[in-house]
Parts: sequence; structure tokens; C-alpha cells
Amino acid sequence: MNDKELVAFKAAKLAKNGMVIGLGTGSTANYFIEHLAKRQSDEGLSISTVASSTISAIKAESCGLKVVAISQLSRINLYVDGADEITPNLSLLKGRGQDLVMEKLLAKAANQFIVVADKGKLVSRIGEKFIIPIEVIPDAWKMVKHQLEKHGAKGDIRLNTGKDNVAVSAHGSYILDMHFPEHISDEALNTLLNNTTGVVEHGVFYGIASQVLIADNGNIEVMLTQKPL
Ligand code: A5P
Repeated sequence: MNDKELVAFKAAKLAKNGMVIGLGTGSTANYFIEHLAKRQSDEGLSISTVASSTISAIKAESCGLKVVAISQLSRINLYVDGADEITPNLSLLKGRGQDLVMEKLLAKAANQFIVVADKGKLVSRIGEKFIIPIEVIPDAWKMVKHQLEKHGAKGDIRLNTGKDNVAVSAHGSYILDMHFPEHISDEALNTLLNNTTGVVEHGVFYGIASQVLIADNGNIEVMLTQKPL
């Protein structure tokens, strides 16, 4: 098993009979889906899942998991997902795949949000390696960009893969890919983006993770927050 699969395997052990489990998006989340499905078939576990993206729903169904619509649920027991960046205080950067609205909804609706990643995702501050994806109401993208530039942000609207149009998120938003000055803390960045009118959602997951499982060459380190599980 590589490190991403190892950590996903460990997280799949947290599933219990009767749980509703949120499925993240990405390569590590895919391993989780596979190991969850294996536990379901090996142990006869009765579980329902809810997916953060169409691609994860397709993967889950192909593995034999029952996938329910998010609109049917008010809470879930467990959400397991990867991340693009993880800081020592468990702030996360997510949403590279344009599914961050659903990812944050499920992360906040879960009794436990478990992040699974390899050591390469650890950073000292959010934005150290990646741009911050910010989903915006299409009509508001220029105004939001201008508001953020007043705080020193630099960046632009995301284009599609063919570079012949703007990219559109799973929820019909445009996406601004922005860098912010280093002196803005994760908490301040989260507050700024939460308070900017026209922003639908953003990739900073501040104070949401319950636990982070980090795999490093076959070993797993558990990073905990003060948030009660
Ligand atoms: C998806 O939108 C992201 O939030 C992913 O969780 C993130 O990109 C992690 O992906 P990997 O597990 O493939 O590294």
C-alpha cells in the first residue's frame, strides 16, 4: 500500500454499522471509498454514503456502496476527505477540484471530519504551495476580485482546461484563484473571505477538521484539534 492508501485504509476502520458517511473527492478519498466498500462486503456492514462530487458518487456506486442525495440529510456521522494543504493547527486548503461547496457542507455537517493525507500536504501556512480557490457568483467576480486586491491579494479568474472560456464549478460559480500576503493569518483569511459579499464559498477550511491522519513512509501520525469528537 502507498501512503495515501494506507491512511485511507485506517480511516475506513472508523466506519460503524448504521452510519451515514460522507465521501470526499480526490485520489486519497478514492482509496477510502474502495476500503469502505471492502468492509461493507467483508463484514456485512450496513452503511449509507453521501458524495461530495459526481465523480465520487460514480466511484462509490461502482464499488457497491449505497449513495443517498445530500438533500435528504441534515447531519452525517463521519466525513472523510483529503486536502491540498494542512497546517499545524489543522487549517486546510481544499477545493482544487472545484467541488468545495459540497465538501465544506459535508465537513461541517459531520460529527467527525477526518482528513486523510500524506506528509507532502503539511505546510506552515495556508497558501504556501497552492492558490486559494474562491467560488463567486458569476456577476460578482470583478467586484470580489477588486475587494480582495485591496487586502493585497493577487490572482485572476480561473479558465477552463482548454483555456477558451472561464471555468465553472459544480455549483455554477466562477472561480478566482488568488494569492494572499503572508502576514494574513489563516483565521483572518477565513474571516475576510466569509465576509466578502459575492463569495459563494472558498477553499480555506478553518476550525472544521476533527482529526488529521498523516501517512509518512508507512507510519501514520494522528493530529488532533481541541474540537470534541
Ligand atoms: C478536492 O476538491 C480537494 O479538496 C481534494 O481533497 C484534494 O485535492 C486532495 O486530493 P488528493 O487526495 O488527490 O491529493
